[in-house]
Amino acid sequence: MFDTQQKRSLTTQAVHAGELIVPNTSHPLSQPIYQATVYGFDSLEAVDEAMSGATQGYAYYRIATPNQVAFEQAMATLERGETAYASSSGMGAIFASLSAAVQSGDHIIADRRIYGSTYSLLTNQFPRFGVETTFLEIADSDAVRAAVRPTTRLLYFETIGNPLLQVADLEKLAALGHELGLLTFVDSTFTSPALLRPLEWGIDVVLHATTKYIGGHSDALGGIAVGRTSFITSARQTGMVMGLAQGPFDSWLNVRSLKTLPLRMATHSRNALAVARWLEGQSALQQVIYPGLPSHPQHELATRLMPEGCGGMLSFELEGGLPTVRRFIKALKAIPFAPSLADVTTTITHPATTSHRPFSPEERLKLGITEGLLRLSVGIEDVADIIEELDIAFKAL
Ligand SMILES: Cc1ncc(COP(=O)(O)O)c(C=O)c1O
Repeated sequence: MFDTQQKRSLTTQAVHAGELIVPNTSHPLSQPIYQATVYGFDSLEAVDEAMSGATQGYAYYRIATPNQVAFEQAMATLERGETAYASSSGMGAIFASLSAAVQSGDHIIADRRIYGSTYSLLTNQFPRFGVETTFLEIADSDAVRAAVRPTTRLLYFETIGNPLLQVADLEKLAALGHELGLLTFVDSTFTSPALLRPLEWGIDVVLHATTKYIGGHSDALGGIAVGRTSFITSARQTGMVMGLAQGPFDSWLNVRSLKTLPLRMATHSRNALAVARWLEGQSALQQVIYPGLPSHPQHELATRLMPEGCGGMLSFELEGGLPTVRRFIKALKAIPFAPSLADVTTTITHPATTSHRPFSPEERLKLGITEGLLRLSVGIEDVADIIEELDIAFKAL
Protein backbone atom coordinates (compact mmCIF):
# COMPACT_ATOMS: atom_id res chain seq x y z
CA MET A 1 0.00 0.00 0.00
CA PHE A 2 1.38 3.46 -0.83
CA ASP A 3 2.08 5.65 2.21
CA THR A 4 0.34 8.88 1.19
CA GLN A 5 1.83 10.79 4.14
CA GLN A 6 5.10 10.69 2.19
CA LYS A 7 5.63 13.07 -0.66
CA ARG A 8 3.61 11.54 -3.49
CA SER A 9 2.06 12.88 -6.63
CA LEU A 10 -1.56 14.01 -6.38
CA THR A 11 -2.51 11.19 -8.77
CA THR A 12 -1.17 8.54 -6.38
CA GLN A 13 -2.65 10.33 -3.35
CA ALA A 14 -6.05 10.46 -5.07
CA VAL A 15 -5.95 6.66 -5.43
CA HIS A 16 -4.64 5.83 -1.94
CA ALA A 17 -5.26 8.65 0.56
CA GLY A 18 -7.64 7.71 3.39
CA GLU A 19 -7.60 4.04 2.45
CA LEU A 20 -7.49 2.45 5.87
CA ILE A 21 -8.14 4.38 9.04
CA VAL A 22 -8.50 1.80 11.79
CA PRO A 23 -9.03 2.97 15.39
CA ASN A 24 -6.52 1.34 17.71
CA THR A 25 -7.43 2.72 21.12
CA SER A 26 -11.16 2.04 20.97
CA HIS A 27 -13.52 -0.15 19.01
CA PRO A 28 -16.81 0.52 17.22
CA LEU A 29 -19.91 -0.68 19.06
CA SER A 30 -21.49 -1.93 15.86
CA GLN A 31 -19.64 -3.87 13.19
CA PRO A 32 -18.39 -1.55 10.43
CA ILE A 33 -19.69 -2.16 6.92
CA TYR A 34 -16.98 -3.93 4.93
CA GLN A 35 -17.95 -2.49 1.58
CA ALA A 36 -15.00 -4.05 -0.24
CA THR A 37 -15.13 -6.52 -3.09
CA VAL A 38 -11.58 -7.78 -2.58
CA TYR A 39 -9.01 -8.14 0.21
CA GLY A 40 -5.22 -7.84 0.07
CA PHE A 41 -2.83 -10.49 1.44
CA ASP A 42 0.76 -10.35 2.66
CA SER A 43 1.84 -13.72 1.28
CA LEU A 44 0.74 -16.62 -0.91
CA GLU A 45 0.54 -18.76 2.24
CA ALA A 46 -2.01 -16.34 3.72
CA VAL A 47 -4.08 -16.54 0.49
CA ASP A 48 -3.91 -20.30 0.64
CA GLU A 49 -5.07 -20.43 4.26
CA ALA A 50 -7.95 -18.02 3.68
CA MET A 51 -9.15 -19.69 0.48
CA SER A 52 -8.96 -23.20 1.90
CA GLY A 53 -10.96 -22.07 4.92
CA ALA A 54 -8.11 -22.85 7.34
CA THR A 55 -8.29 -19.29 8.70
CA GLN A 56 -11.15 -16.82 8.94
CA GLY A 57 -9.61 -14.76 6.15
CA TYR A 58 -11.62 -12.93 3.54
CA ALA A 59 -10.71 -12.83 -0.12
CA TYR A 60 -13.67 -11.82 -2.26
CA TYR A 61 -17.18 -10.40 -1.72
CA ARG A 62 -18.93 -13.20 -3.65
CA ILE A 63 -17.33 -15.78 -1.35
CA ALA A 64 -17.97 -14.06 2.00
CA THR A 65 -17.65 -10.72 3.78
CA PRO A 66 -17.32 -10.11 7.52
CA ASN A 67 -20.84 -8.63 7.54
CA GLN A 68 -22.35 -11.68 5.82
CA VAL A 69 -20.57 -14.01 8.26
CA ALA A 70 -21.70 -11.93 11.27
CA PHE A 71 -25.31 -12.20 10.13
CA GLU A 72 -24.96 -15.92 9.45
CA GLN A 73 -23.56 -16.54 12.92
CA ALA A 74 -26.33 -14.51 14.54
CA MET A 75 -29.02 -16.42 12.64
CA ALA A 76 -27.46 -19.82 13.39
CA THR A 77 -27.54 -18.84 17.07
CA LEU A 78 -31.18 -17.68 17.01
CA GLU A 79 -32.37 -20.69 15.01
CA ARG A 80 -30.42 -23.08 17.29
CA GLY A 81 -28.64 -24.43 14.20
CA GLU A 82 -25.04 -25.31 13.44
CA THR A 83 -24.40 -23.12 10.41
CA ALA A 84 -26.14 -20.60 8.17
CA TYR A 85 -25.68 -19.32 4.62
CA ALA A 86 -26.94 -15.81 3.87
CA SER A 87 -27.92 -15.04 0.29
CA SER A 88 -28.92 -12.04 -1.76
CA SER A 89 -32.66 -12.87 -1.62
CA GLY A 90 -35.10 -15.34 -0.13
CA MET A 91 -35.29 -17.08 -3.50
CA GLY A 92 -31.48 -17.26 -3.52
CA ALA A 93 -31.50 -19.18 -0.22
CA ILE A 94 -34.26 -21.49 -1.45
CA PHE A 95 -32.47 -22.12 -4.74
CA ALA A 96 -29.02 -22.64 -3.18
CA SER A 97 -30.28 -25.08 -0.57
CA LEU A 98 -32.71 -27.03 -2.75
CA SER A 99 -30.19 -27.42 -5.54
CA ALA A 100 -27.61 -28.62 -3.01
CA ALA A 101 -30.02 -31.44 -2.10
CA VAL A 102 -31.00 -32.72 -5.56
CA GLN A 103 -29.52 -33.70 -8.87
CA SER A 104 -30.92 -34.56 -12.28
CA GLY A 105 -33.44 -37.42 -12.00
CA ASP A 106 -34.41 -36.57 -8.42
CA HIS A 107 -37.88 -35.83 -7.09
CA ILE A 108 -39.26 -33.38 -4.52
CA ILE A 109 -42.52 -33.49 -2.59
CA ALA A 110 -43.86 -30.01 -1.78
CA ASP A 111 -46.93 -28.60 -0.13
CA ARG A 112 -49.42 -27.49 -2.77
CA ARG A 113 -49.80 -24.05 -1.15
CA ILE A 114 -46.36 -22.48 -1.21
CA TYR A 115 -45.11 -19.03 -2.09
CA GLY A 116 -45.62 -18.27 -5.80
CA SER A 117 -41.97 -17.86 -6.83
CA THR A 118 -40.97 -21.07 -5.03
CA TYR A 119 -43.77 -22.80 -6.92
CA SER A 120 -42.46 -21.26 -10.12
CA LEU A 121 -38.90 -22.43 -9.34
CA LEU A 122 -40.14 -25.98 -8.85
CA THR A 123 -42.51 -26.03 -11.84
CA ASN A 124 -40.67 -23.89 -14.44
CA GLN A 125 -36.96 -24.06 -13.62
CA PHE A 126 -36.10 -27.34 -11.88
CA PRO A 127 -37.78 -29.57 -14.52
CA ARG A 128 -35.34 -28.10 -17.09
CA PHE A 129 -32.58 -29.73 -15.03
CA GLY A 130 -34.42 -33.02 -14.64
CA VAL A 131 -35.87 -32.43 -11.15
CA GLU A 132 -39.58 -33.09 -10.75
CA THR A 133 -41.92 -32.01 -7.96
CA THR A 134 -45.19 -33.49 -6.77
CA PHE A 135 -47.45 -30.94 -5.06
CA LEU A 136 -49.88 -32.25 -2.47
CA GLU A 137 -51.48 -31.55 0.90
CA ILE A 138 -48.37 -31.96 3.02
CA ALA A 139 -50.46 -32.57 6.16
CA ASP A 140 -51.84 -35.73 4.51
CA SER A 141 -49.22 -38.35 5.51
CA ASP A 142 -50.89 -41.04 3.39
CA ALA A 143 -50.68 -38.84 0.29
CA VAL A 144 -47.00 -38.14 1.04
CA ARG A 145 -46.25 -41.85 1.51
CA ALA A 146 -48.06 -42.68 -1.75
CA ALA A 147 -46.09 -40.01 -3.67
CA VAL A 148 -42.64 -41.15 -2.52
CA ARG A 149 -40.43 -42.55 -5.29
CA PRO A 150 -36.98 -44.15 -5.03
CA THR A 151 -35.65 -40.81 -6.32
CA THR A 152 -37.47 -38.60 -3.79
CA ARG A 153 -35.02 -36.54 -1.76
CA LEU A 154 -36.97 -34.06 0.31
CA LEU A 155 -40.19 -32.63 1.70
CA TYR A 156 -40.76 -28.89 1.26
CA PHE A 157 -43.32 -26.72 3.07
CA GLU A 158 -43.82 -23.43 4.97
CA THR A 159 -44.27 -22.95 8.74
CA ILE A 160 -47.28 -20.71 8.11
CA GLY A 161 -48.37 -20.82 4.49
CA ASN A 162 -48.72 -17.75 2.34
CA PRO A 163 -51.51 -16.48 2.09
CA LEU A 164 -53.92 -19.03 3.62
CA LEU A 165 -51.98 -19.26 6.88
CA GLN A 166 -52.15 -23.04 7.25
CA VAL A 167 -49.76 -24.21 9.97
CA ALA A 168 -47.32 -27.06 9.32
CA ASP A 169 -47.11 -29.71 12.05
CA LEU A 170 -43.32 -29.55 12.21
CA GLU A 171 -42.87 -32.40 14.67
CA LYS A 172 -45.04 -34.75 12.63
CA LEU A 173 -43.45 -33.76 9.31
CA ALA A 174 -39.91 -34.09 10.69
CA ALA A 175 -40.76 -37.59 11.96
CA LEU A 176 -42.34 -38.51 8.61
CA GLY A 177 -39.30 -37.22 6.70
CA HIS A 178 -36.93 -39.19 8.87
CA GLU A 179 -39.06 -42.34 8.62
CA LEU A 180 -39.02 -42.05 4.81
CA GLY A 181 -35.33 -41.10 4.63
CA LEU A 182 -36.13 -37.63 3.25
CA LEU A 183 -34.72 -34.25 4.21
CA THR A 184 -37.27 -31.75 5.50
CA PHE A 185 -37.09 -28.10 4.38
CA VAL A 186 -39.28 -25.41 5.86
CA ASP A 187 -39.66 -21.80 4.84
CA SER A 188 -40.12 -19.96 8.16
CA THR A 189 -40.43 -16.45 6.69
CA PHE A 190 -43.83 -15.83 8.35
CA THR A 191 -42.68 -16.87 11.80
CA SER A 192 -39.01 -15.94 12.40
CA PRO A 193 -36.95 -17.53 15.18
CA ALA A 194 -38.51 -15.14 17.69
CA LEU A 195 -41.74 -17.18 17.46
CA LEU A 196 -40.73 -20.61 16.14
CA ARG A 197 -37.47 -22.52 15.77
CA PRO A 198 -38.13 -25.42 13.36
CA LEU A 199 -34.76 -27.15 13.96
CA GLU A 200 -35.84 -27.72 17.57
CA TRP A 201 -38.80 -29.72 16.22
CA GLY A 202 -36.52 -31.95 14.14
CA ILE A 203 -36.61 -30.14 10.76
CA ASP A 204 -33.38 -30.39 8.75
CA VAL A 205 -33.18 -27.04 6.96
CA VAL A 206 -34.90 -23.78 7.85
CA LEU A 207 -35.19 -21.02 5.26
CA HIS A 208 -36.12 -17.36 5.41
CA ALA A 209 -36.71 -14.51 3.07
CA THR A 210 -34.86 -12.16 5.46
CA THR A 211 -36.40 -9.43 3.31
CA LYS A 212 -39.47 -9.86 5.57
CA TYR A 213 -39.54 -10.08 9.41
CA ILE A 214 -35.79 -10.52 9.90
CA GLY A 215 -35.00 -7.25 8.08
CA GLY A 216 -38.37 -5.85 9.09
CA HIS A 217 -38.07 -2.37 7.57
CA SER A 218 -38.45 -3.00 3.80
CA ASP A 219 -34.93 -1.81 3.11
CA ALA A 220 -32.86 -5.01 2.72
CA LEU A 221 -33.39 -7.91 0.32
CA GLY A 222 -31.98 -11.22 1.52
CA GLY A 223 -32.38 -14.86 2.42
CA ILE A 224 -30.85 -17.42 4.73
CA ALA A 225 -30.63 -21.19 5.08
CA VAL A 226 -29.78 -22.73 8.48
CA GLY A 227 -29.00 -26.35 9.26
CA ARG A 228 -26.23 -28.88 9.72
CA THR A 229 -22.75 -27.69 8.74
CA SER A 230 -22.26 -30.49 6.18
CA PHE A 231 -25.42 -29.53 4.31
CA ILE A 232 -25.10 -25.74 4.57
CA THR A 233 -21.53 -26.00 3.28
CA SER A 234 -22.90 -27.55 0.05
CA ALA A 235 -25.55 -24.83 -0.21
CA ARG A 236 -22.81 -22.23 0.27
CA GLN A 237 -20.76 -23.80 -2.55
CA THR A 238 -23.77 -23.49 -4.86
CA GLY A 239 -24.40 -19.92 -3.73
CA MET A 240 -20.77 -18.96 -4.29
CA VAL A 241 -20.63 -20.13 -7.90
CA MET A 242 -24.11 -18.82 -8.68
CA GLY A 243 -23.16 -15.41 -7.27
CA LEU A 244 -25.80 -15.38 -4.52
CA ALA A 245 -23.88 -13.84 -1.61
CA GLN A 246 -25.69 -11.39 0.63
CA GLY A 247 -24.14 -7.94 0.26
CA PRO A 248 -22.38 -6.36 3.27
CA PHE A 249 -24.80 -3.46 3.62
CA ASP A 250 -27.83 -5.79 3.57
CA SER A 251 -26.15 -8.07 6.14
CA TRP A 252 -25.32 -5.05 8.27
CA LEU A 253 -28.95 -3.91 8.15
CA ASN A 254 -30.09 -7.42 9.05
CA VAL A 255 -27.78 -7.65 12.08
CA ARG A 256 -29.09 -4.25 13.15
CA SER A 257 -32.68 -5.48 12.75
CA LEU A 258 -32.16 -8.69 14.73
CA LYS A 259 -31.68 -6.60 17.86
CA THR A 260 -35.37 -5.69 17.86
CA LEU A 261 -36.75 -8.89 16.31
CA PRO A 262 -38.29 -10.34 19.52
CA LEU A 263 -39.81 -6.95 20.42
CA ARG A 264 -41.21 -6.45 16.94
CA MET A 265 -42.61 -10.00 16.70
CA ALA A 266 -44.35 -9.65 20.06
CA THR A 267 -46.04 -6.43 18.93
CA HIS A 268 -46.87 -7.79 15.44
CA SER A 269 -48.51 -10.82 17.09
CA ARG A 270 -50.45 -8.82 19.69
CA ASN A 271 -51.69 -6.31 17.11
CA ALA A 272 -52.63 -9.00 14.56
CA LEU A 273 -54.69 -10.89 17.14
CA ALA A 274 -56.55 -7.71 18.09
CA VAL A 275 -57.20 -6.83 14.42
CA ALA A 276 -58.31 -10.40 13.63
CA ARG A 277 -60.80 -10.35 16.54
CA TRP A 278 -62.13 -7.00 15.33
CA LEU A 279 -62.43 -8.26 11.75
CA GLU A 280 -64.49 -11.24 12.93
CA GLY A 281 -67.13 -8.72 13.97
CA GLN A 282 -67.40 -7.17 10.48
CA SER A 283 -70.34 -8.15 8.31
CA ALA A 284 -68.87 -7.65 4.80
CA LEU A 285 -66.50 -10.59 5.28
CA GLN A 286 -66.72 -14.19 4.19
CA GLN A 287 -63.86 -15.34 6.39
CA VAL A 288 -61.03 -14.14 8.62
CA ILE A 289 -57.95 -16.35 8.76
CA TYR A 290 -55.44 -16.00 11.60
CA PRO A 291 -53.81 -18.94 13.41
CA GLY A 292 -54.18 -17.14 16.75
CA LEU A 293 -58.00 -17.15 16.46
CA PRO A 294 -59.88 -20.10 18.00
CA SER A 295 -61.83 -20.28 14.69
CA HIS A 296 -58.63 -21.24 12.82
CA PRO A 297 -58.75 -24.99 12.06
CA GLN A 298 -55.23 -25.47 13.45
CA HIS A 299 -55.47 -23.09 16.38
CA GLU A 300 -54.41 -25.76 18.90
CA LEU A 301 -51.35 -26.72 16.82
CA ALA A 302 -50.50 -23.03 16.26
CA THR A 303 -50.51 -22.21 19.97
CA ARG A 304 -48.48 -25.35 20.76
CA LEU A 305 -45.80 -24.40 18.20
CA MET A 306 -45.98 -20.65 18.85
CA PRO A 307 -46.95 -20.07 22.48
CA GLU A 308 -45.70 -16.48 22.30
CA GLY A 309 -47.89 -15.44 19.37
CA CYS A 310 -48.62 -16.27 15.75
CA GLY A 311 -47.03 -13.29 13.99
CA GLY A 312 -48.47 -10.37 12.09
CA MET A 313 -49.94 -11.99 8.97
CA LEU A 314 -53.67 -12.39 8.58
CA SER A 315 -55.97 -12.85 5.61
CA PHE A 316 -59.62 -12.05 5.05
CA GLU A 317 -62.07 -12.53 2.25
CA LEU A 318 -64.36 -9.73 1.20
CA GLU A 319 -67.81 -10.49 -0.13
CA GLY A 320 -68.25 -9.28 -3.68
CA GLY A 321 -64.88 -10.32 -5.14
CA LEU A 322 -62.60 -8.08 -7.18
CA PRO A 323 -64.86 -4.96 -7.49
CA THR A 324 -65.20 -4.80 -3.67
CA VAL A 325 -61.45 -5.39 -3.23
CA ARG A 326 -60.74 -2.44 -5.56
CA ARG A 327 -63.02 -0.13 -3.58
CA PHE A 328 -61.63 -1.31 -0.24
CA ILE A 329 -58.01 -0.71 -1.28
CA LYS A 330 -58.87 2.72 -2.67
CA ALA A 331 -60.55 3.67 0.61
CA LEU A 332 -57.47 2.77 2.67
CA LYS A 333 -55.45 5.94 2.96
CA ALA A 334 -52.88 5.18 5.66
CA ILE A 335 -52.35 1.48 4.88
CA PRO A 336 -50.41 1.13 1.63
CA PHE A 337 -51.02 -1.62 -0.88
CA ALA A 338 -47.58 -3.22 -1.15
CA PRO A 339 -46.60 -6.55 -2.71
CA SER A 340 -44.45 -7.55 0.25
CA LEU A 341 -44.96 -8.12 3.98
CA ALA A 342 -43.57 -8.03 7.50
CA ASP A 343 -42.62 -4.37 7.63
CA VAL A 344 -43.01 -2.42 10.88
CA THR A 345 -45.60 -0.52 8.82
CA THR A 346 -49.00 -2.13 8.24
CA THR A 347 -49.44 -3.04 4.56
CA ILE A 348 -52.05 -4.88 2.53
CA THR A 349 -51.83 -6.99 -0.59
CA HIS A 350 -53.97 -9.03 -2.94
CA PRO A 351 -52.37 -12.48 -3.35
CA ALA A 352 -54.17 -13.32 -6.62
CA THR A 353 -52.52 -10.39 -8.42
CA THR A 354 -49.17 -10.41 -6.59
CA SER A 355 -47.53 -13.31 -4.70
CA HIS A 356 -49.68 -15.99 -6.35
CA ARG A 357 -49.58 -14.61 -9.88
CA PRO A 358 -47.49 -17.60 -11.08
CA PHE A 359 -50.48 -19.92 -10.39
CA SER A 360 -53.21 -20.17 -13.04
CA PRO A 361 -56.67 -18.80 -12.01
CA GLU A 362 -57.95 -22.41 -11.81
CA GLU A 363 -55.03 -23.48 -9.60
CA ARG A 364 -55.59 -20.48 -7.33
CA LEU A 365 -59.27 -21.27 -6.95
CA LYS A 366 -58.52 -24.91 -6.14
CA LEU A 367 -56.18 -23.70 -3.38
CA GLY A 368 -58.76 -21.27 -2.00
CA ILE A 369 -57.00 -18.09 -3.14
CA THR A 370 -60.10 -16.29 -4.34
CA GLU A 371 -60.32 -12.85 -5.93
CA GLY A 372 -61.84 -11.48 -2.73
CA LEU A 373 -58.92 -12.57 -0.56
CA LEU A 374 -56.72 -9.85 0.96
CA ARG A 375 -53.63 -10.38 3.08
CA LEU A 376 -52.90 -7.87 5.81
CA SER A 377 -49.41 -7.56 7.24
CA VAL A 378 -50.14 -6.01 10.62
CA GLY A 379 -47.43 -3.58 11.69
CA ILE A 380 -46.30 -2.28 15.05
CA GLU A 381 -48.26 0.99 15.06
CA ASP A 382 -50.82 1.61 17.79
CA VAL A 383 -53.44 -1.04 17.09
CA ALA A 384 -56.31 1.44 17.64
CA ASP A 385 -55.04 3.44 14.67
CA ILE A 386 -54.80 0.35 12.46
CA ILE A 387 -58.37 -0.63 13.34
CA GLU A 388 -59.65 2.92 12.80
CA GLU A 389 -58.13 2.95 9.31
CA LEU A 390 -59.69 -0.42 8.44
CA ASP A 391 -63.02 0.79 9.80
CA ILE A 392 -62.99 3.77 7.41
CA ALA A 393 -62.45 1.39 4.48
CA PHE A 394 -65.25 -0.95 5.61
CA LYS A 395 -67.63 1.99 5.96
CA ALA A 396 -66.73 3.09 2.41
CA LEU A 397 -67.95 -0.23 0.99
C1 LIG B 1 -42.79 -17.14 2.22
C2 LIG B 1 -41.81 -16.51 1.28
N1 LIG B 1 -40.70 -17.19 0.93
C3 LIG B 1 -39.79 -16.67 0.09
C4 LIG B 1 -39.95 -15.43 -0.48
C5 LIG B 1 -38.93 -14.90 -1.43
O1 LIG B 1 -38.17 -13.89 -0.86
P1 LIG B 1 -37.38 -12.79 -1.73
O2 LIG B 1 -38.42 -11.90 -2.34
O3 LIG B 1 -36.47 -12.11 -0.76
O4 LIG B 1 -36.62 -13.54 -2.78
C6 LIG B 1 -41.09 -14.68 -0.13
C7 LIG B 1 -41.31 -13.36 -0.72
O5 LIG B 1 -42.34 -12.75 -0.56
C8 LIG B 1 -42.04 -15.24 0.77
O6 LIG B 1 -43.16 -14.58 1.11
